[in-house]
Amino acid sequence: MIDGQNKSSIIRMFHVHKNYGAKKALANITLDISKNEFLFISGPSGAGKTTLLKLLYLGEKVSEGQVLIEGINLSRISNHRIPFLRRKFGIIFQDYKLIPTKTVFDNVAIVLEATGKKRRFIEKKVKSILRAVGMEETLHSLPPSLSGGEQQRIAFARAVVGDPKIILADEPTGNLDEVSADIILELLKRFHARGATVIIATHDKDFIRKTGGRVIHLNQGYMQKTING
Ligand SMILES: Nc1ncnc2c1ncn2[C@@H]1O[C@H](COP(=O)(O)OP(=O)(O)O)[C@@H](O)[C@H]1O
Ligand SMILES: [Mg+2]
Repeated sequence: MIDGQNKSSIIRMFHVHKNYGAKKALANITLDISKNEFLFISGPSGAGKTTLLKLLYLGEKVSEGQVLIEGINLSRISNHRIPFLRRKFGIIFQDYKLIPTKTVFDNVAIVLEATGKKRRFIEKKVKSILRAVGMEETLHSLPPSLSGGEQQRIAFARAVVGDPKIILADEPTGNLDEVSADIILELLKRFHARGATVIIATHDKDFIRKTGGRVIHLNQGYMQKTING
């Protein structure tokens, strides 16, 4: 048992283990993430970075240990509260997960429609976020007609349009040239400046070097060291 009343922590992980069958993906992770932190999860491919992010939004369940999000113990959350938990997160998936048959506008609007926002509000908000990521010209396009960098920016727009408290980005620069990577980094910083907690899983050392902030290093599922912590 742990108490969830650490006021400055938005996320607490306590002796967390995650196994996929016989495969150990994460071992004994204890980690506090403060409100409005800008945190990197680094480490080579297979280290457990994506798994760690998934445990936060209940994309996967822990095998052992506890995860608390704003004091809510995810091992005890009832099913009907899971959608509310997920709304705290804006998630930029490594493979974007855009719906190929829906327009760019609809891909982003989906988030606000799910929370029952009014049509006029949705139009204004979606257009404004698409403008912010430099994609306002693509409103009516379908994702497959866009480049990887452009799709990444749409995925970013969808992640942040609902003003989430926590932004999770999984290898956000993975498929990008340096210019697009810089655009994404500037956008992440902008939302961080507005109060969001930002957690980025990446093996891109240049990207980490450019930003600063705390770096958690994973290797074969173990947390090895913390830099700038
Ligand atoms: N759904 C899954 N089933 C089985 N093994 C998995 C699954 N997802 C990840 N793994 C394994 O868990 C380990 C950590 O994976 P992952 O979290 O994706 O690492 P990273 O994001 O750092 O590359 C890897 O060995 C990976 O093969
Ligand atoms: Mg990964």
